[in-house]
Amino acid sequence: MMEEALIITNRSIVIKTHINGFPKETDFELKSEALSLNVEPGSGHVIVKNLYLSIDPAQLNRMKSYSTSQSHHSIQAAAAAIAPGSEIRGHGVGKVVASGDPEFQEGDLVAGELTWGEYCLMKPGVFYFRKLDSMGLPLSCHVGTLAYGGMTAYAGLFEVCKVKKGEKVFVSAAAGSVGHIAGQLAKLHGCYVVGSAGTTEKVELLKGKLGFDDAFNYKEEADLKATLRKHFPHGIDVYFDSVGGEMLEAAVANMNLFGRVAACGAISEYTGSGRKAAPDMVEVIYRRIQIQGFLCPDFLSVHSDFISATCDHLRSEKMVSVEDISTGLESIPSSFAGLFHGSNIGKTIVQIAVE
Ligand SMILES: NC(=O)c1ccc[n+]([C@@H]2O[C@H](COP(=O)([O-])OP(=O)(O)OC[C@H]3O[C@@H](n4cnc5c(N)ncnc54)[C@H](OP(=O)(O)O)[C@@H]3O)[C@@H](O)[C@H]2O)c1
Repeated sequence: MMEEALIITNRSIVIKTHINGFPKETDFELKSEALSLNVEPGSGHVIVKNLYLSIDPAQLNRMKSYSTSQSHHSIQAAAAAIAPGSEIRGHGVGKVVASGDPEFQEGDLVAGELTWGEYCLMKPGVFYFRKLDSMGLPLSCHVGTLAYGGMTAYAGLFEVCKVKKGEKVFVSAAAGSVGHIAGQLAKLHGCYVVGSAGTTEKVELLKGKLGFDDAFNYKEEADLKATLRKHFPHGIDVYFDSVGGEMLEAAVANMNLFGRVAACGAISEYTGSGRKAAPDMVEVIYRRIQIQGFLCPDFLSVHSDFISATCDHLRSEKMVSVEDISTGLESIPSSFAGLFHGSNIGKTIVQIAVE
C-alpha cells in the first residue's frame, strides 16, 4: 500500500534584497513552502522542528552583496553569501520529526546549522548537526553560552591570549553574548576585568550581577583613549575585541608590553557606518603587542574542556548565562536588526516552538 504523503507548510524568514548598511525589519520577508515529512529510509535526510535559533551579528556580512568574509567560505562554511529569497542557516536547537538516517530517531534533540524557519531539512555531510544531550541545562544555553558564544569567549581568552591570573583584561561589547562570558571567565580566572557597553542598564549589569571590577558606557565617552587610561592606570594586558574601529585603536594605545588582543569581531565596521580600525602600528611593534584574529571552530580540540568547565560554572552558579529571548519566527528580523543598535542584553535567541 502506498504511504500517504504528509505535507506541511514550512514558514521561514529570508532577505528581500542584499543588505549593505544597517539591517531593517523591512529588509526581510516571510516565505511559505510545502515540506513533505515523508523521508525515504536510508536517504540520510532528517527533518528537524526548530525550537531555539541563534541570532548572530556576523550573519549581516553574509547578507551583503559583497563582504571580504564571504571570500573565505571554503574554510568557513558559515561565512558563505546568502542570496535574497534563499534559506538562512544559523546555529540552533531542534527536535527530529522524521528521519531517513538510522543515527537519528524521531524525538531526538539535535543542535547544529538549522534554518531561520519552523522546520529544516538536514542532509548529513552537507549541514553540521549532532544529537544533543542537554545535560540537565536549559536548551537555550545550548544556543549561546554552551555553543558559539561561550566557546568563542573561552577560546579567545585561554587559547588566543593565554590569559594569566592577575592580568588586566578589557572586554568590549561586554554585555553581549560573547562578551558577558569572556568577562566572567576572566574574573573566575583571577583577572582584573573592565567591560564597555552601550547603555547604563548594561553597565550596571556588568558591575553588579556579572561581577566585573568596573564598566563604562562607551557612548558617553568623548575620548576613548583617555577613558581606558583612567580605567587601566597600569595598562591593559589582554583586550577581548568584539568591536574593532576606534575601540581597538584606543585599547592598543593603552596596552602593556607583550599585550595580547583577541580579534574576535569588528561589529562597528559591519554596517559600514563606523571608521575602520587603524591601530598605531609603531606602538604595536615597540610594545610587542600580539593581535590575533581567530574563529571559534579553530579550537575544537578544547571543546570538551570548555563544556565541562562551563557546565561546572553554570551549575555552581559562579557564572550567569544572560539570554535575550524573543518568541516566534516573526520576531527574527527585529531581533537581528537590534544587534546593531545594542537592543539585546546577553545572547540573542528566538524561540520558534515549545519542546
Ligand atoms: N571569531 C569568532 O569565531 C566569533 C564568534 C562569535 C561572534 N563573533 C563576533 O563577536 C562579536 C560579538 O558577537 P555576539 O554574538 O556576542 O553579539 P552581541 O555582543 O550579543 O551583540 C552585539 C552587540 O554589539 C554592540 N554593538 C553594536 N554596534 C556597535 C558599535 N558600532 N560599536 C560598539 N558596539 C556595538 C551592541 O552592544 P552595545 O550596547 O554595547 O553597543 C550589541 O548588543 C561580533 O563582532 C561577532 O561577529 C566572532
